Amino acid sequence: MPKLLLGVNIDHIATIREARKGIEPDPLAAALIAERFGADLITIHLREDRRHINDDDVYKIKKAISIPLNLEMAPVDEIVKIALDVKPYKVTLVPERREEVTTEGGLDVRTHLKAISTVNRQFKKAGIIVSLFIEADMDQILASKESGAECIEIHTGSYSNASSASQKKELERIKKAVKYANEIGLIVHAGHGLNNDNVKAIAEIEGVEELNIGHSIISDAVLRGLGDAIRSMKENMV
Ligand code: PXP
Repeated sequence: MPKLLLGVNIDHIATIREARKGIEPDPLAAALIAERFGADLITIHLREDRRHINDDDVYKIKKAISIPLNLEMAPVDEIVKIALDVKPYKVTLVPERREEVTTEGGLDVRTHLKAISTVNRQFKKAGIIVSLFIEADMDQILASKESGAECIEIHTGSYSNASSASQKKELERIKKAVKYANEIGLIVHAGHGLNNDNVKAIAEIEGVEELNIGHSIISDAVLRGLGDAIRSMKENMV
């Protein structure tokens, strides 16, 4: 069985920076720590509203890391142009709505098949792998294949947010989707809302090759590091 890869999403390091519109914490420093501690990819989302990661971060991180960059983005002209210039290892196309707090659903590949296929061709020509972030839905999987994408990332939000009574059902839905996607020749990734309590069942699904995890890792890091940060400040006060 191939090794399951972890893409560490560091968007929320930039979210903290943007709370003060300053320079710390620096997402580049976080990317290098993630690389040092075993991340297989660095994942960042360049949103149209630049609410966390900005253009400068993308270029700097791409230049500094030795592991692959997975750039999450909406399939819109402005961001496509930047991505073609940055040349990440992979782009993950996601839907984007300005009012959402996070990527709330999967891409509707069936409805936007023509436009997504065109974007996919541009990336393919540039040697960039395309992954489509979709719900565990058979027709969206088929449309993803039709669009020419090599990979899909299954949105695990409905599994992660499910009550314990319905989580098993959500898990079964994801397992069926993974099996079908593999059968029609798609590489399968997964992510959204995964944490230390719910990751194992997803990690155990045969045919899932990569998980992208952000919020829970950054949340955990903040609390694990808080004691050290207070100790440092106390030392600097004397
Ligand atoms: N995968 C994709 C495509 C995403 O858009 C996100 C959120 O930015 C994630 C994974 C990570 O989700 P979370 O921050 O909940 O771990």
